[in-house]
Amino acid sequence: MLENVRFALIITSDRAADGRREDATAPLLKSAIVQARGICAETIVIPDDPGRLREQLLRLSNMTEADVILTSGGTGIGPRDITVDVTRALIEKELPGFGEEMRRRSLEKTPYAILSRATAGILRGKLVLNLPGSPRGAVECLEWVMRPIAHAVRILRQLDTDCAPPPKA
Ligand code: MTE
Repeated sequence: MLENVRFALIITSDRAADGRREDATAPLLKSAIVQARGICAETIVIPDDPGRLREQLLRLSNMTEADVILTSGGTGIGPRDITVDVTRALIEKELPGFGEEMRRRSLEKTPYAILSRATAGILRGKLVLNLPGSPRGAVECLEWVMRPIAHAVRILRQLDTDCAPPPKA
């Protein structure tokens, strides 16, 4: 489903970045991407720091090897949850439908999904998408929006302007 779509992953987690906890999200996301025939070009783990996230989003948005930048973590309401705010300040076009769909599906699993402010948007021709920090939540949210990700990348590469809906899986 994600043939030739290239991903960069940014895990934002204070505890994973300083070694207090091993990051479980990146390996799971990577394997979901590879299983869907996508490519994982780069993974980084950084603290929940707005300056660091901004710097990495800008760097990765300049990288030719990635089409999609996924963030995981920091979408909630805690004082260190800054991912959505940093994303929103950088993107040129917001795609609120990604957050809406992820919350809609997630609410069938946990009422706490309403606390995720995750969004998506376009930054310098790349799709940036926020995923929640929980390893299972991040993977399931990615799986729910794989089709629109693949279509967005075709549009961004100017390969496809036909928005006829895909056949049902
Ligand atoms: N979405 C899914 N699918 N599965 C989850 O476990 N966790 C929720 C929510 N979205 C969750 C989810 C919880 S508990 C919170 S607090 C918010 O995401 C924000 O999480 P984050 O700050 O780690 O991004």
